[in-house]
Amino acid sequence: MDKIANLNQKVINSGKTQKSGAARAFKFNPFDSEFRADPYPTYHRIRFEEPVHRNFLGSWVLTRYADVQAVLRDPRFRSDNLPQRLKNKNPYLKDQHKDLNALAGFSSKWLLYLEPPDHTRLRSLVGKAFSPSVVERMRPQIQEVVDELIGKVQQRGSMDIISELARPLPMRVISKMLGIPQEIQSQVYQWANDLSTIFDPLNSLESFAHMNQVILKFSESLSELIAQREKKPQQDLISSLIAARNEADKLSNNEILSLCMLLFATGEETTVNLIGNGMLALLRHPDQMEKLKREPTIIQSAVEELLRYDSPIQGISRIAIENVEIGGKKITAGEQVIVYLGAANRDPAEFSEPDQLELTRSDNRHLAFADGLHYCLGAALARVEGQIAINSLLQRLPDLKLHIDTLEWRKNISLRGLLALPVTFTPD
Ligand code: HEM
Repeated sequence: MDKIANLNQKVINSGKTQKSGAARAFKFNPFDSEFRADPYPTYHRIRFEEPVHRNFLGSWVLTRYADVQAVLRDPRFRSDNLPQRLKNKNPYLKDQHKDLNALAGFSSKWLLYLEPPDHTRLRSLVGKAFSPSVVERMRPQIQEVVDELIGKVQQRGSMDIISELARPLPMRVISKMLGIPQEIQSQVYQWANDLSTIFDPLNSLESFAHMNQVILKFSESLSELIAQREKKPQQDLISSLIAARNEADKLSNNEILSLCMLLFATGEETTVNLIGNGMLALLRHPDQMEKLKREPTIIQSAVEELLRYDSPIQGISRIAIENVEIGGKKITAGEQVIVYLGAANRDPAEFSEPDQLELTRSDNRHLAFADGLHYCLGAALARVEGQIAINSLLQRLPDLKLHIDTLEWRKNISLRGLLALPVTFTPD
C-alpha cells in the first residue's frame, strides 16, 4: 500500500463508517439523508476505494485534492452550461405557455459561464470592487451591520444564527455595495433569495419557471435604478459600472443587470453557510471556540480552517471538452465531472489530521473558493464578513450553546448549509 492509500485508510479507520471487507464498488448517492448530515466518511471511503468514481447518473466524481485542483486549473474542462440546460427545458413548459428564456439569457452573461475574452473583460471591470484592499476598507460598515443585528437579540438570551445574522448580513452588504435604495431592499432580498438556489441541480421545472418570473421583475427594477444613476451617479458599484459602460463601450446594459443579479445569487447562500457551518463547528468543539474567544487575533486562520473543515460549497460541476485521462480512467469529451471541494479539503494527502478542527492550522491551501479561472470573485469579502460575524458572536454573546437536538440541512446537493442554527447565551 502506498503512502497516500495508507493515509486514507487511517482516516477511514478513525471514522464511524468503516466498512468490512476488501474494496468493493458501492453506490454513491448524494441525495441520501445520512450523507447530507455528514458527507465526510463517505468522501473518505470513495477516495480510498475509487477516487475517480462514476456515479449512478453517469457523472464522474472526484474526491482527491490533487485531481480536484488539476481539473479546476485545466482549460480542457469548462463550467457546466446552465444557460443551455435551461433552454433545453423550454419544450416541457410549452403547454403551460411558459419558458425559461429570461433566466437562460441573463445567466448566460454570468462570469461562471463565460470564457476569455468575455470573462477577462467582465471580471476586470468588477474585480477592483472586490479586491482585498477595497474590501478591507469596508470593515467598519460590515461591523456596523453585525453590531446592529446582534444588538437586536442580545437581551433575549437566544437567537437563530442563520435567520437573524448569517442571512441578512450578506444581503445588506451586497445591497450597500451596489447602492440598492432602502425602499426596495426588502423586495430585492426576496428576489435574491428566490434566485439563490438556481445552481441546485434538484430544482423542479416549476421552481425554474418561478425564477424566470423573478429575474424579469428584478431586471425591471434594476433597470430603473440604472436610469436613476445615469442621471445622478453615486459612490456605488452600479454607478462605476455605468461609467465603465460609457467608457469605450466596455459593458452593455444587460451585462450590468446580469452582474448585479450574479452578485446576489453567488454572494448570499455561500456566506450564510460559512457563518452557519463555521459556528456549528465551533459549538461542537468547545476547546477551539474557547481558544478563539481568548485570542480573537487568530480569526483569519480560524476562518480559513472553518472554510476547509465544512465547506459552504461542497461540489461544483465541469464538462470535459476533450478526452482526458484521470487516475487511469478515461473521461470522454462531453461528460460531466463533479469536483468535490468538500472532499478535497479533507484529503489526508494534503492536510494532516484532516478531520480535526485546528484553528491555527498552517499551510492551509483549501479549495473552498475553487481554483483557476473561476476562483471566487467574492472571496475577500466573504472572508471579512465571516471574520467579523464569528468574532462578534463570540465576544458579545457569553456562554453560547447549541439549542437543537436534530440539525436540519438544506436539501441542496452542491451547497452545504443549515436551515436554522438556534443557540442560547447569557443575556446582556
Ligand atoms: C464563503 C462564501 C463563499 C464561497 C465558499 C464561495 C465559493 C465560490 C466557488 C467555489 C466558486 C467557483 C464556482 C465554479 O467555478 O463553478 C465561486 C465563484 C464566484 N463567486 Fe463565490 N463564494 C463565496 C462568496 C461569494 C461572495 C460574497 C460573492 C460576491 C458578492 C461571490 C461571488 C462569486 C462570483 C461572481 C463567482 C464567479 C467567478 C468567476 O466565474 O470568475 N462569492 N465562489
